[in-house]
Amino acid sequence: MNRSVVILGVQWGDEGKGKIVDLMTRHSKYVVRYQGGDNAGHTIFLNEKKLVLHTIPSGILYEGVLNLIANGVMISLKSLSEELESLESHGIDAENRLAISGSCFLVLPHHVAIDRARERREGSKIGTTLRGMGPAYEDKVARRGLKLSDIFHVKYFQKRLKEIIDFHNFHLVHYYHSSSIDYQKTLEETLYNSKRILKIVKDVSEILHKAHKRSEPVIYEGAQGAMLDIDQGTYPYVTSSNTTSGGVSLGSGIGPKRCIGHVLGVVKAYSTRVGLGPFPTEINGPIGKYLRKRGMEYGSTTGRPRRVGWIDILMIKKSIECNSISSFCLTKLDVLDGVETIKICVSYQNKQGKRIYTIPSSSEDWKNIEPIYEILPGWKRSLYKTRDYCLLPKEAISYVNRIEELTGISVCIISTGPSREDSIIIKNPFHR
Ligand code: IMP
Repeated sequence: MNRSVVILGVQWGDEGKGKIVDLMTRHSKYVVRYQGGDNAGHTIFLNEKKLVLHTIPSGILYEGVLNLIANGVMISLKSLSEELESLESHGIDAENRLAISGSCFLVLPHHVAIDRARERREGSKIGTTLRGMGPAYEDKVARRGLKLSDIFHVKYFQKRLKEIIDFHNFHLVHYYHSSSIDYQKTLEETLYNSKRILKIVKDVSEILHKAHKRSEPVIYEGAQGAMLDIDQGTYPYVTSSNTTSGGVSLGSGIGPKRCIGHVLGVVKAYSTRVGLGPFPTEINGPIGKYLRKRGMEYGSTTGRPRRVGWIDILMIKKSIECNSISSFCLTKLDVLDGVETIKICVSYQNKQGKRIYTIPSSSEDWKNIEPIYEILPGWKRSLYKTRDYCLLPKEAISYVNRIEELTGISVCIISTGPSREDSIIIKNPFHR
């Protein structure tokens, strides 16, 4: 029996996956990150104290649950060490609840320097988190990346690092007119920061293979969102990994039939995105400001204000198809409290007045479309911390039902506040 649940973002990330993974971890034995790196910011609460995780899976608060960082994740050793220390300062025994694959590739200072240099240029600006993700994944695909396990072979590591830094320094200095990266300093810092991490290197795929063979419950935790997927998202304004469910298999080393059981798509009750790129339902006026303030829509990694918009059914449908979504978790429904009328984008229209029901492929096509909305009444009452479906006002239920009708997917969890308890579980994805 397949008892895995993939929990991933349906929109552009920041849907509130951290809280949902934390909520569901009580039903699981393993929580696995399989893509992205410290560009992610997953917020969880420990006794009302806010913790932001970047690379460590969101099951880390639970004793007896093994949190795994699988091969598809990019590792910044410094940032991971700091995250471990920060969790320990809150009394969480993180090191003993964590294992990391030696096959993870490293994010090194030259990756961050290239990311920064590109973001300074108008022509190549994406609005990245400046964590070096793009250049690190590029090195992997170009077959010049360095893996965590390469550090066990110090001589080899030193030699390759020197060659790679020389290569990138040429571009940094001569093309980007930036400062070069110091090899010796990078080597020393990398070896120093690796000390703790190397102790928890394990064969993560093997652990997972065995867990699946025993039919143990596993959560695969996505980072970013489907529309930021390098293949399926709003390219080029995307991240550099596969954020959709196909990435689970490649990023963990487990065959798709084993690792992809139930796919729980986390949808925010409105939309947000950070960075540049198409956003047809973006709200620029006072309602946008209202939602940003109420939803505290500021990047957990960068602090940037998030762009805010209405929900977009076309995007969600695309996401359902490319992820094989089984059910939805609708988050931040309470943020819409007090909004007089709520819009749902049900199609696009191009400049010639033609209706469009699928999302465009070229970044140029996005410029020619505008959203067509269905309008629903809002509700006056506060939904904040509502924990019972029967207590939702009829307008909120109509909104949830309309999303279900338009997408053909049932909402099985509704989130009405930041803590675990502020949730309405209609059907538990582990009980199927
Ligand atoms: P990168 O992943 O830092 O290269 O950034 C590429 C794009 O993905 C930018 O638009 C970022 O704002 C966005 N992005 C990356 N990570 C996250 C995330 O965790 N939440 C939301 N957006 C993200």
